[in-house]
Amino acid sequence: MPELLQKEYKALIEDHILDFLPDVDHKSITLYEAMKYSLTAGGKRIRPMLLLAAAEFTGCKREIAVPYACAVEYIHTYSLIHDDLPAMDDDQLRRGQPTNHIIFGEAMAILAGDGLQAAAFEAMTKDMFLYFDDGEKLKKRVRAANEIVKGSGCRGMVAGQVADIESEDRACSGEMLDYIHLTKTAALIVAAVRAGAQLGGADAETMNNLTVYAENLGLAFQIADDILDVVGSEAEMGKKTGVDSVKKKSTYPALYGLDASRDKLMELTDNAIEAMSSYYDNAEFFVKLAKDLAVRGK
Ligand code: IPE
Ligand code: IPE
Ligand code: MG
Ligand code: MG
Ligand code: MG
Repeated sequence: MPELLQKEYKALIEDHILDFLPDVDHKSITLYEAMKYSLTAGGKRIRPMLLLAAAEFTGCKREIAVPYACAVEYIHTYSLIHDDLPAMDDDQLRRGQPTNHIIFGEAMAILAGDGLQAAAFEAMTKDMFLYFDDGEKLKKRVRAANEIVKGSGCRGMVAGQVADIESEDRACSGEMLDYIHLTKTAALIVAAVRAGAQLGGADAETMNNLTVYAENLGLAFQIADDILDVVGSEAEMGKKTGVDSVKKKSTYPALYGLDASRDKLMELTDNAIEAMSSYYDNAEFFVKLAKDLAVRGK
C-alpha cells in the first residue's frame, strides 16, 4: 500500500530527524536551537522519503538509509533557511512558522544553514566509518554521499539559486527557466533518489529509470510550487503566496501562463510514471507520490 509506505517513511524520518545534529557546546546552544527550529517546523519530507523508497526499492533496508535521508533533509532545510533571507527571497513565513531569521536574526540564520550543511556531511561520513572493513558496503555509501554532494552544490541546488537570483527582474528564455528549475529544485530530488539507489546497489537500468523518474518529478515539483504561488493559499502552503510576481521571479506561470503550466505539470508527471512502468506494482510508491504532487498543482 503506497499510502502506508508514505506514512511509514515519514514516521521513520520524524523519529530520527534530530539524531544527526552534533552535540554542540553549550556556549553555542543558539546554533543548535536555530537548526532544530527549522528541522522540526513541519516539512513534507519529500526528499528523504524518496531516498528511503529508492533504497528499499533497490534492496537496501530502509533503516540503514536513514543517515543519508536525514542528510538530504538537513541540506534541503539549510537551502530554505538561506532562500528566505532578506538578501534572497526575503520571506517571513516558512512551514507555517516565522522564518529562521525572523526568530534568530540574520546572522544566526546564515550560521544555522551552514551548520546544517556540515551536519549532513558529518551524518554521512560517520556512517561510513562503520563500514571501513567492508569495501563493497563502503563503496555504496561513498557513492550515495557523492550524489547528495553533487546535487546540492555548485552544479546543482546552489547553481540554481544563483541563476534564480540573477534572473529576477529580467525576461528569461524557456531554456534558462528549465535550467533554473532543474538545478535549484530537481537536482536535490534526483540526488535523493539516486543516493537511495546507490545504497541499494542498483543496476544501470534501474538507476537510469529512477533518474528519469526523478528528473521529471523534480521539474514538475517546482512547476507545481510556481503554480501554487499564484493560486494556492498561505494556510495550505505554510508560506506566503503571490510573492513570485512581486519579486519578478522567472517562473512557469510568468513565462507560459497558468494553463500551459498545468499542461506541462501533467506531461512531466506522466513521464515520471512512465519511467517506472516496467516495475508494475513494485513501483506503486513512486507512482502515487508523483500523482499526489501533481494534484497539488492542479
Ligand atoms: C520548498 O520545498 C522549496 C521548493 C523546492 C519548491 P518543499 O515544498 O519540499 O518544502 P517543505 O520541505 O515541505 O517545507
Ligand atoms: C526554492 O525555490 C528552491 C530552493 C532551493 C530552496 P523557491 O524560492 O520557489 O521556494 P519557496 O517558494 O520559497 O519555497
Ligand atoms: Mg527562491
Ligand atoms: Mg523562496
Ligand atoms: Mg516558490
